[in-house]
Amino acid sequence: MYPKIRMRRLRSSPLVRAMVTEYDLSPSNFVLPLFVKEGLEGKAIPIPSMPGVFQHSLDSLVEECHRASELGVPTVILFGIPKKRDPVGSEAYNPKGIVPTAVRAIKEELEERLLVACDVCLCGYTDHGHCAPIDGEEILNDEGVKLLAEASVQYARAGADIIAPSDMMDGRVKAIRSRLSEEGHDETIIISYAVKFASSFYGPFREASESGFEAGPKDRKSHQMDPANLSQAFREVELDIEEGADIVMVKPALPYLDVIRALSQRYPVPLAAFQVSGEYAMLKAAAQNGWIDETKCMLETLLAIRRAGATLTITYFAKEAAEAVR
Ligand code: PBG
Ligand code: ZN
Repeated sequence: MYPKIRMRRLRSSPLVRAMVTEYDLSPSNFVLPLFVKEGLEGKAIPIPSMPGVFQHSLDSLVEECHRASELGVPTVILFGIPKKRDPVGSEAYNPKGIVPTAVRAIKEELEERLLVACDVCLCGYTDHGHCAPIDGEEILNDEGVKLLAEASVQYARAGADIIAPSDMMDGRVKAIRSRLSEEGHDETIIISYAVKFASSFYGPFREASESGFEAGPKDRKSHQMDPANLSQAFREVELDIEEGADIVMVKPALPYLDVIRALSQRYPVPLAAFQVSGEYAMLKAAAQNGWIDETKCMLETLLAIRRAGATLTITYFAKEAAEAVR
């Protein structure tokens, strides 16, 4: 006969539970996304659908970077909101544009104490809202790739440690890696948004970044992955590693834990997961209604992402989570 106590033996006290803990959360694996708005002075502007997240001025951005660093979060990822948009997203690769300016401001203050990553895409900078130039209903892949590589070089020159292309154009990692190399930026890390799904969970981000579709296709299904697919994720990751990515990303995170799991078991590179704006908004909204415990649910989702196999997690909760696990 078995004794009555079986599984409970390993859950019997805090010390026993600690002894058999398999996964831990550490602030060092969190990446904090930050929005910086050109022309904004002084105070940050709250984003209604993302409580606790702001469009920053240069000053408030640098302050926020100090806070992240003090909490043990080593990395931020920047999203720029330009004053002017045009069909080819010129402000994305303007050396005096908002992102290079922000990188210089952060590095001047924090130097080696914070890693600065830059999201690289054109959709925040084009007047039609697409990730590359368009011709009617067509997204112009190769034209986009050239411009994305140009933007990457500008960000690296400004002092960015990490370049994170989020556009999903074919061949962009290769183009970025070779342009960086030509310009003497062999040290720059590339985190590619390798497996980015055409998800509806990016809604609040569009509000935060003030970007929507003004012309051309009404969605990103021609380049982002179909949520109904897994096998293409392997191909996307293989290509990006081959082309020079150091870290690959899955995005969104919680609805795609199976994808994170499958990729993390197969490839010997660090895997990043992006807990996106819609995931954040859901948790915040339920918590604000008193329907769930915010801190506990937040940590549970972050642990799930980690258990699935992510090494880094990009999350709007980075500061809160760092405080909770310290
Ligand atoms: C730009 C970009 C998006 C996000 C990150 N970079 C939006 C999109 O592709 O539609 C989404 C981030 C989030 O929702 O938190 N390509
Ligand atoms: Zn984009």
